[in-house]
Amino acid sequence: MNKEEFFTEDVLTGKVYDRTVIKKLLSYILRYKGAGVISVLMVVATTALFLMSPYLFGYAIDHGITMGNISLTYKIALYILGIQSLRLLLIILQSYNIQVIGQKVMLDMRMELFRHVQSLPVSFFDKNPVGRIVTRLTNDIAAIGELFSAGVIVVIGDICIIIGIFVAMFMLNWKLALITLSVFPIIVIIALWFGSRMKNSFREIRRKLASINAYLNENINGMKVIQLFNREKKNYEKFDKINDEYLKEQVKYIRYFAVFQPAINMVSALAVGLILWYGAGKYIHGFLTLGILVAFLSYIHDLFDPIRDIVEKYNIFQGAMASAERIFSLMGEQAEVDYVIPNPGREVLKGDFHGAIQFENVWFSYTGNDYVLKDISFRIEPGQSIALVGVTGSGKTSITSVLTRLYEIQKGTIFLDQIDIRKIEKIGLRHVIGLVGQDVFLFAGTLRENITLFNPLSDAEVLGIIDSLGLMPFIDRMHRGLDTEIAERGANLSAGERQFISLSRIIIYDPRVIILDEATSNMDPIAEVLIQNALHKVTMDRTSMIIAHRLSTILHCDKIIVMNKGEKIEEGSHEELLRQGGLYNQLYKVYMKEELLT
Ligand SMILES: Nc1ncnc2c1ncn2[C@@H]1O[C@H](COP(=O)(O)OP(=O)(O)O)[C@@H](O)[C@H]1O
Ligand SMILES: [Mg+2]
Repeated sequence: MNKEEFFTEDVLTGKVYDRTVIKKLLSYILRYKGAGVISVLMVVATTALFLMSPYLFGYAIDHGITMGNISLTYKIALYILGIQSLRLLLIILQSYNIQVIGQKVMLDMRMELFRHVQSLPVSFFDKNPVGRIVTRLTNDIAAIGELFSAGVIVVIGDICIIIGIFVAMFMLNWKLALITLSVFPIIVIIALWFGSRMKNSFREIRRKLASINAYLNENINGMKVIQLFNREKKNYEKFDKINDEYLKEQVKYIRYFAVFQPAINMVSALAVGLILWYGAGKYIHGFLTLGILVAFLSYIHDLFDPIRDIVEKYNIFQGAMASAERIFSLMGEQAEVDYVIPNPGREVLKGDFHGAIQFENVWFSYTGNDYVLKDISFRIEPGQSIALVGVTGSGKTSITSVLTRLYEIQKGTIFLDQIDIRKIEKIGLRHVIGLVGQDVFLFAGTLRENITLFNPLSDAEVLGIIDSLGLMPFIDRMHRGLDTEIAERGANLSAGERQFISLSRIIIYDPRVIILDEATSNMDPIAEVLIQNALHKVTMDRTSMIIAHRLSTILHCDKIIVMNKGEKIEEGSHEELLRQGGLYNQLYKVYMKEELLT
């Protein structure tokens, strides 16, 4: 998939009306039934009040002014003032009310979406870039918010006004009403013509904006590479081009818009002209009162605003529908539960476990096609430590991923003690098994928060644990101790410091089984010695699985498993494997050489 295609996925699908999407959207709105009903009632009320004014104008002319009845004219003037004030008040309340509903719906959707995203399997995040998921939680939710702040309810009001005006017109004078209606086909043609063009243009704008966002995202994330390879000028020029395209599309849209409004006004003028031409004759011959003529002209004046409004709101509506569709499709993403045996509901206590691990004919693939673990079987006794050895890509990390159920295996069984791990709740499983990986994820916050992960622990406890692992030198190096601020993703820390945090985290968690995946790579020698010693202490009374480059680490282990291309090809103690003279023997020679060098 190239990048363009990748982001067009984020663009409007073109459908406006999709039953299931609307149904789901309604289910959110219906949670605020009371407030919603009040809003609709208020819209109807404001419409009714709005429609009264032209009628009252006409009435004032016919029965007040032309009859010389000043007091009636004053009275009607006061009525109109009262009605307009009441309408204004209702509009204020209505808009407040609907916006609050909108915000609540947005909050509900955002929370539900977030909870759902949290429950998705790690494989989902392999396939979907962060940017896209964040867009769902921000822009798409905001687009739905717009439905409330500027969309649906206003359109309902507009439709009410249009219908109401025609009802009033037909009640006043059906012939004039028919004449007004005769310009409607022109309106429909204009609305359709501009509507479809504005829709396409709007979609194009969204697409261009998506590529601006994508480009910015990539450029800011990759700033280091861009600067190191002097790509600034080139990337600036490319950005200039993308921006220019966006500008052109925007201008096109503005042009449509600029013509559309006067076009509607022209039709409005046409209707006024027709009514004047026809109505004046009738008035002069005494078939029509001046008041009715004025009321009609006033109604026509009010008729075209809502029509224009509906066409303009169409894009907001469509945008919101597309966003809703994407949000619901993300919510519909399933956790990979198909082959997971239903949770027996038994609460797992950490103390229940001894930490025996057994792989039984395990097959696993990330994609569903190529197996990266092929028929793996081995057993680790409680308290034992094994080393996983093999070249890059042989499947070592994959073993740790399926053991922690970050990914689910396709065939075979993994046992923790005697229990199939699929029968253990993930939360429980991860209390029992702790993983220290090569990539340590750090949050923006203090060192304390990153170690305790916001669990309430006293500084003394935290420092006690760090001290027991012999890792105090790391704390001493940080200028503000546990209060040291960690930058986002730990940008201000070295590999050793990150690993120190990761280890301390795990020990506070105190798991029965500990997995160390290349935990000492890329470290300076001093940090490495400290971490090595800590690792040794950590693995002493726990079952452990260690992936390491260091011979010294491997030699500490009770058993070594040698992986190659997803298969377990050798298993045994260091001496046994050397005697076999297989892959381990070869790797050993390489290890020896490296160890001598460093
Ligand atoms: N998230 C992933 N999605 C798809 N393939 C993956 C993923 N992670 C690893 N792989 C593939 O699985 C194979 C084994 O990788 P891994 O277990 O990480 O090897 P090792 O840790 O031994 O270097 C490799 O071919 C790798 O490309
Ligand atoms: Mg690995």
